[in-house]
Amino acid sequence: MTKLTPAEAAAELNRLFAEEVEASIRYLHLVNAVKGLDRVLVEPILREGVRETLEHADVIAKKIRALGHVPKLDIQLSCPPRAVGAREALRIALTFEEAALEAYQDVLRRVEGDVPLEEFIRSQIAVESEHVAELKQLLVE
Ligand SMILES: [Fe+2]
Repeated sequence: MTKLTPAEAAAELNRLFAEEVEASIRYLHLVNAVKGLDRVLVEPILREGVRETLEHADVIAKKIRALGHVPKLDIQLSCPPRAVGAREALRIALTFEEAALEAYQDVLRRVEGDVPLEEFIRSQIAVESEHVAELKQLLVE
């Protein structure tokens, strides 16, 4: 497979940028949607989620800049004004973490042949997989 052009690579990275920004906003909403004492349980995890997803978004934006492009951000999301318990909050976090992981895996297939980009995506997949595994462990009944 031929190496992607910088514009093609930037387009792939834009998808991941949007995915991470969206996840960070969802974490921010979620941390404020947890009801009562449950907040004590999951607030540190959710706040760490806000921090980490923003950090990932920033790393991806830097990669896009390195390709000579300006990140494109076009997101649409809606978070309902509904209180959630600790377990439900983690379940919701798991759904968007899994969606992000899937997006990385999809991009990995599409950047095949571009070794530096492949390596970067692979290392992100390792981190994201660990995060998904941690959430799953917390959700074990
Ligand atoms: Fe991430």
